[in-house]
Amino acid sequence: MTLPRVDRVLLGITGGIAAYKTGELTRQLIAQGCEVEVVMTAAAREFITPVTLQSLSGRPVWHDLWDPRVDNNMAHIELSRDKGLVLIAPATADFIAKLAHGLCDDLLSTLCLARECPLAVVPAMNRQMWDHPATQRNVARLIDDGVEVWGPAAGDQACGETGMGRMLEPAQIAERVARSFAPKSLNGLRVLITAGPTFERIDAVRAITNLSSGKMGYAIARAAWEAGADVTLVSGPTTLTPPPVARVAQVSSAQEMLATVNAFVPDADIFVSVAAVADYHVLNPSDQKIKKDAHILTLELAPNPDILASVSALADPPFCVGFAAESENLDEFAEDKRRRKQLPLLAANLVQTAFGSDDNELVLFDDAGRHRLPRASKLVQARLLIEHIAKLYHPR
Ligand code: C5P
Repeated sequence: MTLPRVDRVLLGITGGIAAYKTGELTRQLIAQGCEVEVVMTAAAREFITPVTLQSLSGRPVWHDLWDPRVDNNMAHIELSRDKGLVLIAPATADFIAKLAHGLCDDLLSTLCLARECPLAVVPAMNRQMWDHPATQRNVARLIDDGVEVWGPAAGDQACGETGMGRMLEPAQIAERVARSFAPKSLNGLRVLITAGPTFERIDAVRAITNLSSGKMGYAIARAAWEAGADVTLVSGPTTLTPPPVARVAQVSSAQEMLATVNAFVPDADIFVSVAAVADYHVLNPSDQKIKKDAHILTLELAPNPDILASVSALADPPFCVGFAAESENLDEFAEDKRRRKQLPLLAANLVQTAFGSDDNELVLFDDAGRHRLPRASKLVQARLLIEHIAKLYHPR
């Protein structure tokens, strides 16, 4: 028997219109390092051809329970044996009903019953079919059986109606697949993360803000969620789609961010302060748009609270992780900041390489010294940072 490799996905496609998105899903899974092998039901092949999925997955596509290409002629056993996950997307009402009752009259339903690895289903159907008590009963049964049910989402449906039943988008499914394979190093821990810039009002239409995109903080929130944490993300204004973490609080100013952090911090085990909090706010912002004239305009600025320093100074603080974005003397400034803010861990980067970019190059400073992470995407850096936090949080 081949040893299971955790990034191998068996993608089962059933017959719903959302099947047309499985080409993109396959592509995204492969792009994030998965190997994908596709099994289709007869109805799925009415919506998308095996040729498309074979081309994108680079592997033969299966559908026939009696397919003789497997040596022992038992495709329903062998196909799942080297997989880390069976993923059914889209999962129709009919297929969910079959799974709930253990029916197996084709290759896909039979291999779901014969599998040893986890099973995730991604429902997609008309809103009435989703809301029907029979479907709800079947979904509850699957959850009871330990099957993961991802989605559905609400929105416009192919039939022209609007409601619950849309399949999650390929990127959202791929994100959940990554999570199902990730080591659960923060399982059961509550992680509070700030991200993005803050926005300090000058008048009705103007503000002081900065170039933080929020990408690093969002990537850390995603990596902590992948690692099994219960994540609260407190975000300043960004254009990003938040990861599917337990809670997302959108805030604007540093004062609002502080109030929101204070509300969540008593329950947090770990606090990761990634936000680029503005150092000052305007003392007397105007409710109306300030009109221009020939005179010099003076804004009075008052310092903002240091959110991270106030959390790390609590009597019983969570494990605090700070960030430092510097334009020079990275090591010296970072170590100084770590000492001043009393942090067990600080992640530093140069603003020239970090702000707005998709890649980053973090250097971590802790009691043991300096650890340089390899230059990589912000998500990869975030996963490495989370592993480092987990090691410090759970000392051997
Ligand atoms: O002192 P400096 O702003 O460089 O420190 C950066 C670190 O402190 C980051 O972790 C940032 O999120 C946090 N910080 C904060 N509140 C501020 C300023 C910075 O939480 N007002």
